[in-house]
Amino acid sequence: MLRSLASLFFYARFVRSFSALGFRRAIGAPASSVPDFSGQTWLVTGATGGIGRCIALQANRSGARVLAVGRSDRRLKDLKGEADKPGRLVPLVADLSRINDVRGLPSKRSVQTRPIDVLVNNVGVLLNQHQLTEEGLETSFATNLLGPFVLTEELKSAGLLAAAGVVINVSSGGMYGSPLKLDPMNCTDPDRFDGMNAYAMHKRALVELTRWWNGQWQGEPVAHVMHPGWVDTEGVRISLPVFRKALQRVLRTPEQGADTVLWLADQRPPPASEGGIWLDRSLQPEHEFAWTRRSPHTAEDLVAYLRRLVG
Ligand SMILES: NC(=O)c1ccc[n+]([C@@H]2O[C@H](COP(=O)([O-])OP(=O)(O)OC[C@H]3O[C@@H](n4cnc5c(N)ncnc54)[C@H](OP(=O)(O)O)[C@@H]3O)[C@@H](O)[C@H]2O)c1
Repeated sequence: MLRSLASLFFYARFVRSFSALGFRRAIGAPASSVPDFSGQTWLVTGATGGIGRCIALQANRSGARVLAVGRSDRRLKDLKGEADKPGRLVPLVADLSRINDVRGLPSKRSVQTRPIDVLVNNVGVLLNQHQLTEEGLETSFATNLLGPFVLTEELKSAGLLAAAGVVINVSSGGMYGSPLKLDPMNCTDPDRFDGMNAYAMHKRALVELTRWWNGQWQGEPVAHVMHPGWVDTEGVRISLPVFRKALQRVLRTPEQGADTVLWLADQRPPPASEGGIWLDRSLQPEHEFAWTRRSPHTAEDLVAYLRRLVG
């Protein structure tokens, strides 16, 4: 009962900004001019569906060579078939919840061809059922946080992120409901697992990680964290059927959800984004509630925790 009330409060608090109404108020109809990404290389995770698919196809349409990462060979083939410039869409099969798969990506020849100008850590899942990966990690934790952490760190240390490029991390407004936590993020005990809380923790950690990367990298490249608002995708259909039913009329399209990623990638020089999260092309506060500021942990603790897990 308390939990339902809290959810109601949360959704009511954000419905005006996170829904399609918020997008229309903030952006209106996006300009018909198409950005020019020619000459760029992008790597987009979770490119076979939802928001990631839109990002990959739009970047490709705008001239970028797109390394599209997905776990389904068939869906990657479909994606390539839909691309405007199929010769510039390179499918890469990897399961982002498997750290071994993630570690294999930087050594692929197509990834090594030239540094990545735009890395979009888009993949993300909200699981209602507890699942462990073959590597013994809770699957949503591995997909939402540990996989993107390892991918980004390994690309950076291999010199595969262009210094003038950008890394765009796709978080969620759900992170407003969680402070930074560490151990509970990788919940290996099914009896303690709460998929919604886990998702909020992972997405909060992504915000902290973005700030930490910016401190480390000093602008080479710049890291952004954004959230797409509430978007009608397969992920929402599967994970949040009640939410979707209640709000279907005001959910965003995947194109609207992808808008801020494409806009951020098009800003040269990249806007400063320390200490905020992007929504609808504008920087929003990292916290909406005072209680989520209270955490005994820092971003440094988070990085040390993630590094311990991957050795
Ligand atoms: N939709 C929203 O309202 C919303 C709101 C806030 C934040 N977000 C965030 O936006 C991002 C995209 O969400 P979405 O709604 O577009 O998701 P989605 O509809 O579930 O699509 C996710 C894509 O990621 C792929 N994927 C899932 N797990 C994977 C894995 N382990 N390895 C490789 N690929 C994997 C899926 O591939 P398969 O085809 O193989 O399943 C699918 O193509 C996520 O980070 C999500 O948290 C979404």
